[in-house]
Formats: sequence, C-alpha cells, structure tokens
Amino acid sequence: MSLPPPTPRNRAVITGASSGIGEALAEQFAAKGYSLILVARREDRLAALADRLAEQYKVTAEIRVCDLADPAARLILAAELSTLDVAILANNAGYATYGDLSTLDRTRELRQVELNATAVHHLTLAVLPGMLERKAGTILITGSTAGNQPGPGNTTYAATKAFANTFAESLHSELSGTGVGCTLLAPGPVRTEFAEAAEVSNLDKLVPGPLWVSAEDAARQAIDGLERNKRRVVPGPFAKAQTLGGLYGPRGVAGPLLRRVYRKVK
Ligand SMILES: NC(=O)c1ccc[n+]([C@@H]2O[C@H](COP(=O)([O-])OP(=O)(O)OC[C@H]3O[C@@H](n4cnc5c(N)ncnc54)[C@H](OP(=O)(O)O)[C@@H]3O)[C@@H](O)[C@H]2O)c1
Repeated sequence: MSLPPPTPRNRAVITGASSGIGEALAEQFAAKGYSLILVARREDRLAALADRLAEQYKVTAEIRVCDLADPAARLILAAELSTLDVAILANNAGYATYGDLSTLDRTRELRQVELNATAVHHLTLAVLPGMLERKAGTILITGSTAGNQPGPGNTTYAATKAFANTFAESLHSELSGTGVGCTLLAPGPVRTEFAEAAEVSNLDKLVPGPLWVSAEDAARQAIDGLERNKRRVVPGPFAKAQTLGGLYGPRGVAGPLLRRVYRKVK
C-alpha cells in the first residue's frame, strides 16, 4: 500500500499546519505534488504558508481557520471534509499542559481533550467512509510517547495521547486489506513551538540538546511511514528508548518516576 497519487482534485489535509510538525508535513506533502488544506487558528500564518507553498510547488493550497477544540466550528470543517476527495488526513494539532490536574485551568484542560482526542476522532470519522469507498487514502495521527504510560503532572495530555496512540494503532489493523492506511506518529521531544504553547520554559533543559528531533525530520519519517503503511513511527533514539520503557516497563515504576520528572517542568 502506498499514498494515493496527487491529483488536481484530491487534497492532503493537515491540522496544526501553522507551526512545528504540521508546517513541516505541509511543506513535504506540497513537495510531493499534493494540493493542501491547511487547518489551524492563526490565519496570518496559514495564509503566508499557503501562498509560499502554492508558489514554490505549483500546488493548490487552501486554508481553513478553525478552532478544532470548538465542537461547532469543528462540525463545519468535518462536514466539508466528508464531501471532499481527501487523499491524506494528518490529524496533528495538539498541545500539552503541565502541573497537577486540580491546579490547572479547567477550560484549558477540557479544550485539550476536545483537540487532542475528540477532534482526531471526529475528523477521522468524517473522511473514512469516502476513503473506503475510493479504496484509497491514508490517515496520520500524531500521538506521543507521552501516551505510552501514566504521566502524572501531565495527566490530561498523557491520557489524550493514549487515546490517539491506541485509536491509530487499532484503526491501522482494522483497515488492513481495504486500500486505506493509518499510521501513528508517536514522537518524543521535537523542536517546535510546543513548549511555548504549553506555557513552560525549561522543557529543553530536561532533555539534552542532541536528543531533540527537528520538525522536518519527524515529518519526513512520518511520511515515509505513511508510504509504507507502518503501524507506528517513532522518530529519534531518545523517543525509541522512551517507547521501550513506556510500553514494556512496569507501570508502577513509570508513574512515580515521571511524577518526579514532570514536577521539574516549569
Ligand atoms: N514537539 C514535541 O516535543 C512533541 C512531542 C510529542 C508529540 N507532539 C505532538 O505533535 C503535534 C504537533 O505539535 P508541535 O510539536 O508541532 O507543536 P506546535 O508547534 O505548538 O504546533 C501545534 C499546532 O496545533 C495547532 N493548534 C493548537 N490549538 C489548536 C486549536 N484549538 N485548533 C486548531 N489548531 C490548533 C497550532 O496552531 P494555532 O495555534 O494557529 O491554532 C499549531 O499549528 C501535537 O499533537 C503534539 O502533541 C509534539
């Protein structure tokens, strides 16, 4: 199974395309000739990226300004996507919060579940019937190594990424033989605006510099995984080690250990 070839009609839809991994995915899909629908909230960023990619790669690049944590706004986008020939859906938008759950802003926690889990579910449900009918298409879901084990002090994020990881891997197997693929991208530390969005400033001090992966590398490995319909893509040696520990280590050890790590995140 490979990616459906780009056509003038079909689209690669990337959520969270205004920065980081999503922006890198958008550029790399455009370089492969895919016309794009770029989704995020920051219209200026999306518009500048769409103009640049359309000019540079001679593709169509449309934008959809959408707060994916808002069920009403998301419904409009999902309804539109269900009518389009979506070759690739990259469910990538997401953010984290750090701190003990009871101390965190309640609305921000609720919105995190809407964005990191419900929106992934919703947009996937919107495009899947069309993909299955066409027997073509692929879905990328950006989960995280954070979803492999408990994450005290990062509780909502860890739980939403556990949803994303399990949803992607379940769908991957369920879709076997249909012509439609699903791949999980489960990164560890990637240099993006993730820390700013989480409103923390010392994440980069907790993991040594060389162990961080660039957004471009994460996107490249994700697209390679989509092309080969891989179940899970884990970019970089640090994330691979985290994954081994998280999936095969005792959860009774992971919880207290990560509690100490996440207490240091400020
Ligand atoms: N960086 C890491 O270390 C790391 C590690 C593991 C997993 N991840 C995952 O990778 C994905 C991409 O994150 P990133 O690292 O590239 O971070 P980023 O640079 O902060 O990008 C996050 C993207 O999500 C969009 N977004 C946030 N809230 C949104 C909302 N309510 N509606 C629509 N779009 C929204 C942002 O755009 P607007 O603000 O313009 O809406 C932005 O484009 C996320 O799912 C993240 O959890 C990242």
